[in-house]
Amino acid sequence: MKKIQIKNFSPEATEIYKKFKEQVGSEHTASLPAIQVVFNILKKKPKTILEFGGGIGTLSYLCLKYSDAEIDIYENNDFCIKALGENLNEFEGRYALLTDDNFYLSHKSYDLVIVDDNPYQYFRDIVKNTENIKEIFFEGRRFSAQDIFRKALKRKYSFKYIRYYHEKNEKKCGYGIICFKNKSPLLNIWNNWIYFLEYVRTRGWEGVKEYTKKIIKKLKLKLIHRYEKNPN
Ligand SMILES: C[S@@+](CC[C@H](N)C(=O)[O-])C[C@H]1O[C@@H](n2cnc3c(N)ncnc32)[C@H](O)[C@@H]1O
Repeated sequence: MKKIQIKNFSPEATEIYKKFKEQVGSEHTASLPAIQVVFNILKKKPKTILEFGGGIGTLSYLCLKYSDAEIDIYENNDFCIKALGENLNEFEGRYALLTDDNFYLSHKSYDLVIVDDNPYQYFRDIVKNTENIKEIFFEGRRFSAQDIFRKALKRKYSFKYIRYYHEKNEKKCGYGIICFKNKSPLLNIWNNWIYFLEYVRTRGWEGVKEYTKKIIKKLKLKLIHRYEKNPN
């Protein structure tokens, strides 16, 4: 796993962090290290972004202000939808709001997917229904979201993991997955191993037990399924 340390905060990231921290309902906004990571990723000039968990718009605002990208923002909380409308007012026309009642992706491919929420029901479908996803950023740890994305992605992509960290606040940084279309079985075995090591590092032996139980359950289900198909 590649590790990237976030050492310094740019004036742009700091300004956005402060702007949103002052607002009502800012308890769950992205951390400053995470804002800095997204700001750095924007230097790759993504053209299309899909964001899960728009909240009151901290990361959406950052992406709209510091890139030319068109953005799909998923948000389903009424308070946040209203706040997003107000905070992103100056960028009207460059972003689409997706909700549970109106979940239509605007693009076939996304250069960047930002995950700062857990709407699990969409993750698999998105990987299935898009032609290409280049990079995913998970704000904070979001392990369950990572697990689901990783499972959905591995059918279609090979990937490289990145752990972004900040020495004072590791939990408040994030994880990245860079996706490649050329699917190599060897690379996937390597990826699974790297992911397992990170699982142990962050969740300890309880995590290993949990992981092993999941694998045993999966194997059992496979055997039952195989037996039901061919009892002899
Ligand atoms: C971690 S927050 C997303 C924060 C967002 N990326 C930002 O930086 O502004 C995840 C979800 O929590 C919910 N949420 C965030 N702030 C809220 C608030 N003040 N009231 C109710 N729900 C909130 C929203 O549904 C949001 O998508």
